[in-house]
Amino acid sequence: MRIPEDTVDRIRQAADILEVVGDFVSLKKRGSNYTACCPFHNEKSPSFNVNPTRQIYKCFGCGKAGDAVKFVMDIENIGYGEALRYLAKKYGIDIEEQEQTPEDLLRQNERESLLIVLNFAKTFFQQTLQTTDEGKSIGLSYFRERGFTNPTLDAFELGYSFDKWDALLQEGVRRGYSRDLLEKAGLVLSRENTSGGENKVFDRFRGRVMFPIHNVSGRVIAFGARILKADKTQPKYLNSPETTVYHKSQVLYGIFQAKQAIRQEDVCYLTEGYTDVISLHQAGIKNVVASSGTSLTTEQIRLIARFTPNVTILYDGDAAGIKAALRGLDMVLEEGLNLRLLLLPDGEDPDSYVHKVGADAFKEYVRTEAKDFIDFKAVRWLADAGDDPLKRAEGISDVCASITRIPDPLKRQTLSQRVAQVFHVSEQTVISEINRLLRKQQDQSRKESDRQKDRQERQQTGGGAAGQPSVGGPSIDEINALLADAGIDHMDAGFGGFGGAPASPAPSVSRTPSIRTPISYQEEECIRLLINYGARELEPGITLCHYVLNELHEIDFQTSPFDLILTLFREAYIQGDILTANDFLNRRSTEINKERPEDAAMQHQAIHLTTPRYEISEGWLKHEIHVPSEEEIGILADAAFRNILRIKKLLAEQRMAALQQKIRESGGKTPEEFDQLMTEFMHVKSLDMEISRLLGTVISG
Ligand code: CTP
Ligand code: MN
Repeated sequence: MRIPEDTVDRIRQAADILEVVGDFVSLKKRGSNYTACCPFHNEKSPSFNVNPTRQIYKCFGCGKAGDAVKFVMDIENIGYGEALRYLAKKYGIDIEEQEQTPEDLLRQNERESLLIVLNFAKTFFQQTLQTTDEGKSIGLSYFRERGFTNPTLDAFELGYSFDKWDALLQEGVRRGYSRDLLEKAGLVLSRENTSGGENKVFDRFRGRVMFPIHNVSGRVIAFGARILKADKTQPKYLNSPETTVYHKSQVLYGIFQAKQAIRQEDVCYLTEGYTDVISLHQAGIKNVVASSGTSLTTEQIRLIARFTPNVTILYDGDAAGIKAALRGLDMVLEEGLNLRLLLLPDGEDPDSYVHKVGADAFKEYVRTEAKDFIDFKAVRWLADAGDDPLKRAEGISDVCASITRIPDPLKRQTLSQRVAQVFHVSEQTVISEINRLLRKQQDQSRKESDRQKDRQERQQTGGGAAGQPSVGGPSIDEINALLADAGIDHMDAGFGGFGGAPASPAPSVSRTPSIRTPISYQEEECIRLLINYGARELEPGITLCHYVLNELHEIDFQTSPFDLILTLFREAYIQGDILTANDFLNRRSTEINKERPEDAAMQHQAIHLTTPRYEISEGWLKHEIHVPSEEEIGILADAAFRNILRIKKLLAEQRMAALQQKIRESGGKTPEEFDQLMTEFMHVKSLDMEISRLLGTVISG
């Protein structure tokens, strides 16, 4: 179902980037822009920028960028159409009713109806707890036994469900809620009547204390319910099923009550149970949530990351707790968060322990006992290993494996020093191990993606000849091998263990690593210069665009979308036009959707390349790309000149690698062939040397 074009335009015009973003993060004015800590990744200093003039946002940390619609898509994790609907609602713009399919309307209404009926149930359970004999004598006395005060009962909206088959059902129907709705909300169950009559319908929660589960904005989306009788045939806790409004893997118990404290304290305590959250909250430790009823998920970690980059895991000290902690450990690291862990003394959970020792002692215990993940793991390994060098090596490897999960290479580097200290080995040993593991992961995911490609190709060709040698240029590995031979630093930007782009996630994770070729950086730089300064004259009568296109005569870019952008510049230039940022930014917004991924990629690049860089990424430094004060013509000309040279140098290197390959493979066949290849090789080599001289790069060996 499509939203009419003119409505899309109206929505886009109404949507103000500051207002839209401001609903999710608090923006601070900085010059003519606004900044905040990025809502898409974790950081302490703000690198998320909003430009109200151009109505775009961009994060210099994680690279996310776009306009108001894109922001809503990213932050809410929804599609283009849904994002437009979100904005339409925010700005009171009607989307023509007849355009919506009946299913759309139903779904939209269903969500709202479910929230209403869940809220009714919550209130009913609260009243049952507070005002009925059964509620007071059974539910309330239980909560009192557990030491919960009235403000606590209120803060978590705790309740009680009658020990009857249909107390909630009756009241719900009396209030006009349909059985169907109550069932969709997970509040009642229906069993088929085997003797052919009407289905048997009854309450899901009976004779239990009720823990409403709130979403971030405080609306009740589900319930956890604890049994009070000693009935071994019944589970201790019963939870709502998955519904349209409740996806348990995305929810953290207590997040609504905790979020403010999490922001203030700048750390989130992660526990396992409802009562852990509640008891700590009552003790004044309010920055606490639980992954109740499920083992920790990545979505839950990302939810925490919206409020703080710091997580402390507080789990039971039993075997199950340790196992859960170790599992959570890697997941938290993978999301780039800072992690500490604490196991409570055997037999205690945070709930029982805070009751036992009190709030102050509990806080002190967390302060002194919570370990970072290296110590957490090392203590275990070292206690186990004794003098056994093999065991120690295993321990180092295990800790290093966790380090490889961390996306930030700088952080990995810092941590390797700690590992070296803790295990009394040299830092180089640790670094080598980390790099070995990273390479292994990369190999595995590369193999996996090769396999996938293979499968796809075979599907397309209907099982035709596979395993054809690739005909394209040399691979990154070959270039790197050549560069290494030449004594040049490893230039693989994608996966240098330290430095370079983030590590590939472990093979079990479905993201594939994006390996950037060295030349892609220069192509990006070239496009950046074109988009920003294409019309500038480097010398009288020669624009930057003219210079660059002239120099790149017969050279095509290898990286998408830079190849496409270069072609567009060429086509326009032939018509006498020099493209500018606006030509990319203002491409009709409706085109930027799933059907035209190239356009979306181009718009993204245009935003990325036209926003001034406040932070220079390592990648850029490594590839020697100039950044500041390009406004001066001399510096601009120099930047363009060097960029072109670097492109040519990398092309020369690719050509040399290809020639070497050929010489190795077939050069021996005939002497003439060998001579010819060698001659060309020497020619390219001397070109390469000349470029190096111009660039002032010294190559040893
Ligand atoms: N849990 C669950 N279903 C169960 C058991 C546990 O969903 N059958 C979840 C609950 O969220 C519970 C958490 O796992 O809070 C931890 O379980 P447990 O330690 O057994 O419960 P406590 O929170 O300690 O509850 P209590 O102190 O009331 O026994
Ligand atoms: Mn407990």
